[in-house]
Amino acid sequence: CEKPDARPLRQRLLVVANRLPVSAVRKGEDSWSLEMSAGGLVSALLGVKEFEARWIGWAGVNVPDEVGQKALTKALGEKRCIPVFLDEEIVHRYYNGYCNNILWPLFHYLGLPQEDRLATTRSFQSQFEAYKKANQMFADVVHQHYEEGDVVWCHDYHLMFLPKCLKERNNNMKVGWFLHTPFPSSEIHRTLPSRSDLLRSVLAADLVGFHTYDYARHFVSACTRILGLEGTPEGVEDQGRLTRVAAFPIGIDSDRFIRALELPQVQVHIKELKERFAGRKVMLGVDRLDMIKGIPQKILAFEKFLEEYPYWCDKVVLLQIAVPTRTDVPEYQKLTSQVHEIVGRINGRFGTLTAVPIHHLMCISAGNFKRMAGLSLIAEKGGRDRSLDFFALCALYAVTDVALVTSLRDGMNLVSYEFVACQDLKKGAAQSLGAGAILVNPWNITEVADSIRQALTMTPEEREKRHQHNFVHVTTHTAQEWADTFVSELNDTVIEAQLRTRQ
Ligand code: G6P
Repeated sequence: CEKPDARPLRQRLLVVANRLPVSAVRKGEDSWSLEMSAGGLVSALLGVKEFEARWIGWAGVNVPDEVGQKALTKALGEKRCIPVFLDEEIVHRYYNGYCNNILWPLFHYLGLPQEDRLATTRSFQSQFEAYKKANQMFADVVHQHYEEGDVVWCHDYHLMFLPKCLKERNNNMKVGWFLHTPFPSSEIHRTLPSRSDLLRSVLAADLVGFHTYDYARHFVSACTRILGLEGTPEGVEDQGRLTRVAAFPIGIDSDRFIRALELPQVQVHIKELKERFAGRKVMLGVDRLDMIKGIPQKILAFEKFLEEYPYWCDKVVLLQIAVPTRTDVPEYQKLTSQVHEIVGRINGRFGTLTAVPIHHLMCISAGNFKRMAGLSLIAEKGGRDRSLDFFALCALYAVTDVALVTSLRDGMNLVSYEFVACQDLKKGAAQSLGAGAILVNPWNITEVADSIRQALTMTPEEREKRHQHNFVHVTTHTAQEWADTFVSELNDTVIEAQLRTRQ
């Protein structure tokens, strides 16, 4: 079926991303349970429904034996997911090493961890080899499942080598690549030993997409300055072959959140939360426990706010939901201890017998569909089962007075979108939500503290006006619209290229 504007909605789409939307947990020799994976990429792509999609990726677990692999492939198949099996050693050098210790910090302008700099330089080559090998393994699985006419959509910094590997296997494949993180200035990209290999591999795609125009521009200038290629308004040209480069800002499935607010279980959570925090304003942060999310800076700004405006000490609570991530990477381990230390200090300083200012909840996942039990589970079971299900998350967003999103740098932060979608009851990513949100410099804790006060004391009229702006944006720039635009642009790009070569 096709929409009136002739978008091929039921086209087969092979989505390829490092992580599958579900992560597997082994329950027995041949039995598995599947939990929803965390992160913006997963939550956005799950909102893309109008394609015949298959998802190819890693299930987040080492499965060395054939019995386990067969059983997991079957379980994932029921969810239209196809696993790529990566062994522990590859995961260590490709995922923990090259992806998350090198590319991720560099693309977010954090540089390499200082004390690791030399060690990283030494182990760089071996990590890059593992990166290439892992990308080849993804390419083999894609190639195996590819059918003529499919669109292959590669995602994120883990798979920059994939477009080249795919075109080597079948030059007629329609290949798009989209980056979910910022692409840094060419001056930063230049510091990567593998800078040219990565750019050339990405350029093998037919269409290359970024969240913002700035990231697209950085990519084109990296190609012109580092590879000496020609940048055009359409993209990058290499010996007559054009790789189209453009910005496609992502969105969420806003209807899913809006509809959830009507459900009885969400209403129960809302009631429970309202009772629990009666008489206090609720501020909310929901982040993966990642240094780019600026969690320590956010908490320090909240401390500054309590210090500057003591009137608010027992009238506001900050709920900080943190989802641990990449826990084998040392920088992430350090961050966890740092956040615990700061929260403990501030609660000790401003807490009373009846109220603590910060509730810091480490959840193994947030937004999971699996469980019905919600906040009470987290708050009361303490320590054991710590996932925040989708309904509890929607309820939290709905009762929140102020969402604090203070990423130091982010591809596109979708927590702010989810919050806006759920604020329907009570009328209130920086570049996209500009006019509706209060924009802050997350590095300046005094400025953030003042903005917290501004948000808490805003008149209902101003709140309503800002909310309307945000709400219209979030409900029109959806995940489906993002995917439709990318895929139709990819189809058009390939047709244009074919016409050009025929001329
Ligand atoms: C970000 C990245 C995604 C990644 C997600 C979760 O959103 O852009 O590619 O999947 O973080 O990180 P993880 O390392 O757990 O997959």
